[in-house]
Amino acid sequence: GLKIATIGGGSSYTPELVEGFIKRYDELPLKDLYLVDIEEGKEKLEIVGNLAKRMVEKAGVDINIHLTLDRREAIKDADFVTTQFRVGLLDARIRDEKIPLRYDVIGQETTGPGGFAKAQRTIPVILDICKDIEELSPNAWLINFTNPSGIITETVLKHTNVKTIGLCNVPIGMVYGVAEMLDVDVKRVSIDFAGLNHLVWGTHVYLDGEDITEKLIDSFAGGKSMSMKNVPDLPWEAEFIKSLGMYPCPYHRYYYLADKMLEEEKRDAATIGTRGEQVKKLEKELFELYKDPNLNVKPPQLEKRGGAHYSDAACSLINSIYNDKKDIHVVNVKNNGTILDLPNDVVIETNAVIDKNGAHPINIGHVPTKIRGLMQSVKAYEELTIEAGVTGDYYTALQALTIHPLVPSATVAKKILDDIIRENIDYLPQY
Ligand code: NAD
Ligand code: G6P
Ligand code: MN
Ligand code: MN
Repeated sequence: GLKIATIGGGSSYTPELVEGFIKRYDELPLKDLYLVDIEEGKEKLEIVGNLAKRMVEKAGVDINIHLTLDRREAIKDADFVTTQFRVGLLDARIRDEKIPLRYDVIGQETTGPGGFAKAQRTIPVILDICKDIEELSPNAWLINFTNPSGIITETVLKHTNVKTIGLCNVPIGMVYGVAEMLDVDVKRVSIDFAGLNHLVWGTHVYLDGEDITEKLIDSFAGGKSMSMKNVPDLPWEAEFIKSLGMYPCPYHRYYYLADKMLEEEKRDAATIGTRGEQVKKLEKELFELYKDPNLNVKPPQLEKRGGAHYSDAACSLINSIYNDKKDIHVVNVKNNGTILDLPNDVVIETNAVIDKNGAHPINIGHVPTKIRGLMQSVKAYEELTIEAGVTGDYYTALQALTIHPLVPSATVAKKILDDIIRENIDYLPQY
C-alpha cells in the first residue's frame, strides 16, 4: 500500500494535510501515514496525531496513522516524504525576526536575513534526511514545504540524489485572491507565474482563459489588495502597480514598500509582537482545540495561520504524480532553461506539468527588464546562502547577506551575521 512519511508531523498544519488525503482517498489510496517528530515536539505530535486518527475514523477511510520519533522507520520504503519541520522551533523564528530589526532591516521568517538564518539551521537537517531517503527509499519523492522553501529545494537538488519538488501556498493563495476579488469560482481563474519562492510575479492572469491582467491591475490601483495572514496587507501605490503591469505576490511588499513595511514591523514588535510571537499564541489556542476528544474535523481556526490551502497544494501534487495526471501546478523546480535570465541549476517557482516523472516547467524565456534585476539579485543571494549553509564558510555567508537587496551595507551585514551565528550556534554544526 501507499506509504507517506511527514517530517515535522507535530505541526499545526497536519490536520490540513490529513483532510487533503481524506478528500482524495478514492484516487490516492493512502495506507500508512507516518507522522515524525523529535523529542521536543512529542507533545504536539501526540495531540495532532490523535486528532488525525479521529479524522480518518470519522471519514471512514482505512488510513493508518503512525506517530513516531524514529525517522528512519518512517522513511523506509516510503513512496512520498513530505517535510514541514521547523529547526529551533518558534523561539528561533522569533530571534530571526528580531535580529535584523535591531539594525533597521526587515525581520521576516523567510525574506531577508531571517530567511538566511532559517536556511542555515535547516540545511544540515534536510541533508541528513536526504541521506536517509537515499539509503532507505531511493525512489521516494520528497515534497518539501519547509521554509525557505525555494532555497531548501535547491539545496536538495544540488547536493543529493533525492527526487524533489518544492511547494508554497502563495501561488494558490493568489489564485484564490483573484477569485475572491472578482467574486467568481476559483476554477475559472488561472495565472502564469514567474520568479522565485516568495518573490513570484503573476505575469498574466486569466478568467475562463481570457487575459484580464490589465483589468486586475486597475482594481489594485484602485486600492484593492490581497495578502496572506502573515504579511501586513499595505495597499499598493496606484502609479507603481500600473507601471509594474503584473500581479505582485504579497511578499513583494517587503521590497517595493520596504520603508512602510519596516515601520509596520517595528510597530507590531513593540505592541502585539512579531509574527512569530503572535503565532506562539495562536498555536496554543489551536492545540487547545485539537485536544478536544469530540473534534474530528479540521477546525476553521487554522485559517488564522499563513499556510491556508496547504493541503490543496500538497495532496493534489502527490495525487498528480501518483496518478500520472499531466496537469498544471505551481511548484519550485529546477530552472533548466525555463527562465533564460537565471542559471540552469537553480530553483524557480513557476507553472509546471506534473506527471509520474515529476515537474516539467512551462517555458518562459526572458522576463521583463523591470523584474529581472531584483529576481537575479535575490537568486544570487540564495545561491550563496545555500553554499554557506552547506560549507559553513563565513566569507560566503557574509557575501550572501551583503548582496541581499534589503541589507544596506557590508557593515550591517556583518553585524547581523555575527548575531545570527552567535544566537543559533547550537543549530549550526557546519560553522
Ligand atoms: P512548527 O513550529 O509547528 O514545527 C513543526 C514541527 O517540526 C514541530 O512539531 C517540531 O517539533 C518539528 N521539528 C523541529 N525540528 C525537527 C526535526 N529536526 N525533525 C523533525 N521534526 C522537527 O512549524 P509550522 O508553523 O507548522 O511550520 C512548519 C514548517 O513549514 C516551517 O519550516 C514553516 O516555515 C513551513 N511552512 C511553509 C509554508 C510554505 O508556503 N512553504 C507554509 C507554512 C509553513
Ligand atoms: C505563508 C507562506 C509560508 C509561511 C507562512 C507563515 O503561507 O507561504 O511560507 O511559512 O505563511 O504563516 P504563519 O502563520 O506561521 O505566520
Ligand atoms: Mn511559502
Ligand atoms: Mn503581456
